[in-house]
Amino acid sequence: MTSQGTSRATSQETLHGKVALVTGGSRGIGAATALRLAQEGADVAVGYVNGKEAAEEVVRAVEALGRRSVALRADSADAAEAAGVVAAAAEALGGLDILVNNAGVGLLGPLETLSLTDVDRVLAVNVRAVFLASQAAAARMPEGGRIITLGSCMAQRVPGPGGALYAMSKAALAGLTKALARELGERGITANLVLPGPIDTDMNPADGPFASGQAAMTALGRFGTAGEVASMVAYLAGATYVTGAEFAVDGGHAA
Ligand SMILES: NC(=O)c1ccc[n+]([C@@H]2O[C@H](COP(=O)([O-])OP(=O)(O)OC[C@H]3O[C@@H](n4cnc5c(N)ncnc54)[C@H](OP(=O)(O)O)[C@@H]3O)[C@@H](O)[C@H]2O)c1
Repeated sequence: MTSQGTSRATSQETLHGKVALVTGGSRGIGAATALRLAQEGADVAVGYVNGKEAAEEVVRAVEALGRRSVALRADSADAAEAAGVVAAAAEALGGLDILVNNAGVGLLGPLETLSLTDVDRVLAVNVRAVFLASQAAAARMPEGGRIITLGSCMAQRVPGPGGALYAMSKAALAGLTKALARELGERGITANLVLPGPIDTDMNPADGPFASGQAAMTALGRFGTAGEVASMVAYLAGATYVTGAEFAVDGGHAA
């Protein structure tokens, strides 16, 4: 069932009629975000690289909410695919209003163990793909477009050793976000950065070996949920006078 023409906007559906692409929408924060944007009324393209079945499950959940959805495979490490998924989403769902740059890799380890291949891969997925997808999105977004990127609390405060590559990659997104805001502001397009703290996902399970230390570093003393981050993304998708800004959803990790 498709949403357009069959569903009616309610007062809760602030994103009715909007089309979103969530990269890495198959799992974790991305899957929660895809569902939350659909609850707010958006049609949602779900990006993935390996998790076809998981992505298709998210598509079915979005469709169950009465929205249109499609799963799109694209490897963010590949420059052509990182940009191409934006065009594919716009083609499949008839335009693009909201880009959520969520796909990311969390590679931590002592400095001496991080290879050149690791450096190239993390920068390709966490930084270059965000630049290329944002560039492709800006080229086709109408006034009111939204670019929302998932950074990390580790771009603000690195709580221990092992974060050189990941923190470097996430810190680059602050400069990109501010520059996008300045460049796209005159077209009424906003760009913002969300900085999650420890969030319970496959990347960083709340029962993982370093979990208790991470929880202890937050003011609230616990991991966050993917839904708690998705709430911030949904807010930014609807916000009209917020751009070039960074939003910690980190339980007070940076406090
Ligand atoms: N969890 C945390 O504690 C935390 C904290 C701060 C920031 N973040 C950031 O939040 C974002 C989401 O994290 P998460 O915890 O939800 O991660 P996750 O559970 O590991 O999920 C990662 C998602 O990204 C996709 N992905 C990974 N590599 C990709 C590639 N090369 N090309 C395309 N898609 C790719 C995965 O797709 P497949 O399913 O196809 O593999 C999956 O949908 C990331 O940018 C991460 O750095 C997370």
